[in-house]
Amino acid sequence: MRPYVILNAGMTLDGKIASKSRNSEISGSEDLMRVHELRKKVDAIMVGINTVIVDNPRLTVHKIPGKKKDNPIRIVVDSKGRTPLSSRVLSGEAETIIAVSKKADKKRVTQLKKKAKVIICGKDKVDLKCLMEKLYEMSIKTILLEGGGTLNWSMLSGGLVDEVRVAIAPVIVGGEKAVTLVEGEGFNLIKEGVKLGLKRNYPLGEDFILEYEVLK
Ligand SMILES: NC(=O)c1ccc[n+]([C@@H]2O[C@H](COP(=O)([O-])OP(=O)(O)OC[C@H]3O[C@@H](n4cnc5c(N)ncnc54)[C@H](OP(=O)(O)O)[C@@H]3O)[C@@H](O)[C@H]2O)c1
Repeated sequence: MRPYVILNAGMTLDGKIASKSRNSEISGSEDLMRVHELRKKVDAIMVGINTVIVDNPRLTVHKIPGKKKDNPIRIVVDSKGRTPLSSRVLSGEAETIIAVSKKADKKRVTQLKKKAKVIICGKDKVDLKCLMEKLYEMSIKTILLEGGGTLNWSMLSGGLVDEVRVAIAPVIVGGEKAVTLVEGEGFNLIKEGVKLGLKRNYPLGEDFILEYEVLK
């Protein structure tokens, strides 16, 4: 058994979730409120370590009224245990889980354990299937996956995502070094891709929201 996973991102019309300089302020204030409403409803939010290093996000409910108990558990996928000890995800605002692999330095893991729960899954990269099973056993039944593109690929290609929601902002930034919604190795053929079924679409402020279910 594994948690129900909703992948959510703010994206430019040309599919980027960050510009070439890693600027990721993409969607408007109405969309940020939508995301924070979503955060309030899930058990946990999950991000990749690059997102923590680049954006230093709080990953809490703070754009809408809320209490500390509304903050979901924060999960960072970080094989080597590189999460900076001063990062905002390690603040006392909410619980945090750092998922590492056996590759993580023992001393580093000891330091992280003082500020977060550490789960070890996998030899090299974090084994996401193992992680999902362990999270489910810890009563985490719903996860909001907030990227970035590399983690999105691993989760989607591993069949671990149930829904995809994107806010498309009316802007184009280009850049082959910019981060797209899904990075990684990619599928060879279109027919091998992850198939989606449109559930809902609506304008929100200047953005346009698309909500899909992942077809199994
Ligand atoms: N617009 C949006 O909604 C939005 C949302 C989130 C992020 N972003 C942007 O996305 C960018 C970061 O994306 P990113 O693609 O560079 O990185 P990322 O997905 O945030 O993190 C990827 C890293 O996670 C670690 N990892 C460990 N196990 C993994 C596994 N099984 N599969 C995949 N990754 C694994 C790897 O680093 P180790 O090998 O060190 O473990 C990997 O390089 C930032 O610029 C951020 O601003 C935008």
